[in-house]
Amino acid sequence: QKTAVNTGPERNFVKLMKQQNRQVIFFYGSQTGTAEDYASRLAKECSQKYGVSAMTADIELYDMTYLDAVPSDNLVVFVMATYGEGEPTDNAVEFWELFNGEEPEFSESTTLENLKYIVFGLGNKTYEHYNAVARVLDTRLSELGAKRIGERGEGDDDASLEEDFLAWQENMWPHFCNALGVDESNAQSGPRQVMFGVEELDAVDKTSLFLGELGEWKNPEQLHQTVVYDAKHPYQAPISLSRDLFNESDDRHCLHLEIDLSKSNLTYQTGDHIAIWPTNNEVEVERFGSILGLSDKLDTAIMVEALDSAASKKHPFPVPTTYRALFRHYLDICAPASRQTLMSLVEYAPTESSKETLRQLATDKDVYRIKVGEAMRNLAEVLELCQDDDEGTATKMSSGFFSTVPFDLIVESLSRLQPRYYSISSSASTSPKSVAVTAVTLAYQPTKEEDRTVYGVNTNYLWRIHAPEDNSIPAYDLNGPRDTLKNQKIPVHIRRSQFKLPRNTKLPVIMVGPGTGVAPFRGFVQERVYQKQQGKEVGPTVLFYGCRRSDQDFLYKDEWPQLFKDLGEESRIITAFSRETEQKVYVQHRLKEHGEKMWEYMEQGALLYVCGDAKNMARDVNQTFVSFAIEFGGKTEQQAQDYVKNLRTSGRYQEDVWS
Ligand code: 2AM
Repeated sequence: QKTAVNTGPERNFVKLMKQQNRQVIFFYGSQTGTAEDYASRLAKECSQKYGVSAMTADIELYDMTYLDAVPSDNLVVFVMATYGEGEPTDNAVEFWELFNGEEPEFSESTTLENLKYIVFGLGNKTYEHYNAVARVLDTRLSELGAKRIGERGEGDDDASLEEDFLAWQENMWPHFCNALGVDESNAQSGPRQVMFGVEELDAVDKTSLFLGELGEWKNPEQLHQTVVYDAKHPYQAPISLSRDLFNESDDRHCLHLEIDLSKSNLTYQTGDHIAIWPTNNEVEVERFGSILGLSDKLDTAIMVEALDSAASKKHPFPVPTTYRALFRHYLDICAPASRQTLMSLVEYAPTESSKETLRQLATDKDVYRIKVGEAMRNLAEVLELCQDDDEGTATKMSSGFFSTVPFDLIVESLSRLQPRYYSISSSASTSPKSVAVTAVTLAYQPTKEEDRTVYGVNTNYLWRIHAPEDNSIPAYDLNGPRDTLKNQKIPVHIRRSQFKLPRNTKLPVIMVGPGTGVAPFRGFVQERVYQKQQGKEVGPTVLFYGCRRSDQDFLYKDEWPQLFKDLGEESRIITAFSRETEQKVYVQHRLKEHGEKMWEYMEQGALLYVCGDAKNMARDVNQTFVSFAIEFGGKTEQQAQDYVKNLRTSGRYQEDVWS
């Protein structure tokens, strides 16, 4: 039996469930918040529809060795995202380690015979280890004697995550009811269960309002304890430098930022990622305010609190705050609205025809896909569509068309705004307190049919900080609470990555990074130069870089000649310009041309690094390395595939890719 050593929050979830009379616990392993949202949605359905008391839980906050103590009339649900190369999310790393050893040790035994569980995984088919976390977890739990209820669910973020999740639930709930002895026919779609209390405050001390701060610190600098900046408590960093790397057309810019960490205790290593919290633009903030009838009240102070006293988070974001700050900083108002959210709003549509429009968008998958999913319409835009269908009524209404929607439902339906991650493009040895970020601004027409521009939330925000006078994109927080734009501080934290140069500097290094995929390699090349300057022997360093045209979007064009000169003869950048010739030339083509030499390096123990688009580029590059093993290594196709796979498992083939 374990004895508790500290007096922090209760980590024994079985004890907690008992105290609070919960029958089901929904653990989430979440990186960007989607798994967390899914867990909350399931928990809500569980208690509201089936009358079974449930709770959600961040898997990091509980001691999972108590899994063996879960009574057999309870259920444990895992909603687990897989991340990168089949890895668990940051908050599930410790949980994962529990299952890595041969025989996990639980609180009282080494098996899980009493445990009944349900598992849903969130993954992305673009990656090789699709839903590895959910799959491995499922296998391990069964091996340990636990009993899975229903089928394992798997969602593919590349195609149909939300649909996969909804389809899986249809089969899951009957099994769920069966396992808990709940009569499914008694399931009610009764009155909505309110999760959050929202209260407008009249008299409030302005200095106590949270207007974009994240975490519960208003002034971390004033705290006397040592401050640890992390995902839950980002650091408000100044930007020491920003410049555009290219700025050719109106809507495609590339930004180079240097973020100043000198006043913090944050450190990073070359190859790590930096997380940046975005701010939503004012156009979308006002759109939301307007459709919900809150335009005149955007700066009203509000308090938001979970009504369930045992909710995992008492406040979903720092409070007291204002509607405006909520829309700007805390809620993800720009993401496409989910079908479930639309469904929950149908009853509040003010007219029959708008109800019908909303119902159709919520229930007809194809209409939803065309008008919302692919069209990238956020919730306010969808509600505007419904209003457009009913212009006559809308013009007669004095407040917003959807002003009858209870605000707590908006809080419940929208996800928290999440940080965006960037591969750091500087070397920790040469600039330990200054982090470089390389980001292309995103602004695009979502589909041919849609005559609208969708703006990437964070990249445009950063661009506007850099170029406040650029009125071609929506404005951000111009008179905002967080200083004027030029002095804007941005909330950041560092995320460690596995993407690292070899300790043995003599080994050759082959890097492939088209577009902004070159970001970490700027850091790598700077690091190799530094190592050489320190008197170390540094092996050949080759970078394959691709962009459209040498005179248009060639990132860090002026820097490479000196860097590679410093590295010596065998080191070089090899470029692929895709739009200078009739036939497109891509990095993998150039790699192939240099196959013999690259194979020689591989035989010498070279490390291979690929960064950029996961879907096409990374796959083609992988295949190109396979072809070297066939052509120059005399291997069969199968042997060559195994050879490259081996490079991956031994850490000699590393990817930092996104889709
Ligand atoms: P393109 O846009 O002209 O097709 C950075 O985005 C560079 O990567 C561009 O030159 C782009 O070319 C190129 N690129 C696009 N698709 C690619 C792929 N599948 N493999 C490698 N490079 C690609």
